[in-house]
Amino acid sequence: MPARLFLSSGDLVADRRFEFARDLQLKGDLAAAADLLLQATELAPNFASAWFTLGEIRAGLGQRDAAVAAFRNARAADPDDRHGASLHLMRLGAEEIAAMPQAYVQTLFDQYARRFEAALVDDLGYRGPSLLFKAVLTVRSAAKKPAFFKRAIDLGCGTGLAAGAFAKEVDRFTGFDLSPKMIEWARATALYAELEVADMVRGLRGQPDSSADLVLAADAMVYLADLAPVLNEAGRVLIPGGLVAFTAETHEGDGVIIGGGLRYAHGANYVRATIASAGLTLAHLEDLSARNEDDVPVPGLVAVAVKS
Ligand SMILES: C[S@@+](CC[C@H](N)C(=O)[O-])C[C@H]1O[C@@H](n2cnc3c(N)ncnc32)[C@H](O)[C@@H]1O
Repeated sequence: MPARLFLSSGDLVADRRFEFARDLQLKGDLAAAADLLLQATELAPNFASAWFTLGEIRAGLGQRDAAVAAFRNARAADPDDRHGASLHLMRLGAEEIAAMPQAYVQTLFDQYARRFEAALVDDLGYRGPSLLFKAVLTVRSAAKKPAFFKRAIDLGCGTGLAAGAFAKEVDRFTGFDLSPKMIEWARATALYAELEVADMVRGLRGQPDSSADLVLAADAMVYLADLAPVLNEAGRVLIPGGLVAFTAETHEGDGVIIGGGLRYAHGANYVRATIASAGLTLAHLEDLSARNEDDVPVPGLVAVAVKS
């Protein structure tokens, strides 16, 4: 896991109370930790990290309404919401499913970048890029077309693992990612002709019509609640016959939910319908998990759609 975000309150005593509270929280004394955090917020009412941690503790203690109040205070204290209090509010059912705060994603992955590959691949058995690669080969071979691509766009490219998996089959890669630190690692691979720190939908919007023959998103759609804008843009940017391939986390119901890992899970019917509304044809949809959590595969989908 990435290091925990700490935003100082600017008040030394309040910051110290926070540190003691974290020690108590880690030792399992949640009631005492909550007490200290309340004291810290009395000293520094705009102490986002203290409100956020209090929200987590209260949620863990089953005190839903008090947790909701703390998470709302955390977000009010840091309107960019770098801690991701909004996600907890959605998860607690206090707010509708909505977009993830960009500052949260950026902060999370900037903090994560240095240890990302070891943490994801070694600890969580991450296999998104190889699953995408196999699915794309399957679709191409069923269509009796070579699996070779002139230009691929890698959405949420991270450190470049997906480009690594497709390197021999792609002439030229473009990568977009919200996290500047992840982009630095991607740049170091020398696999990308172009890299941009950009939201994936905004990045695609800057691309000409029919300018790519492959769009990839490995473990990146899990950070988007609404897949329609990204699939619509992918459809516009692809040449006829081009492919969009992505992994998603899923659940048995309909629509989009937020899972325990604070990532979105998209129902299979939602994925099918969104692909169809983007004017794309679903070529492959398989129940496959891209990563484990607590050594258990997280329910997932691998989708490949074609632009006709
Ligand atoms: C779990 S990582 C996966 C990285 C890479 N695709 C891989 O397979 O290793 C998710 C990446 O998506 C990026 N990301 C999340 N939401 C994004 C968005 N809306 N636009 C661009 N990048 C985003 C994150 O910064 C992070 O680098």
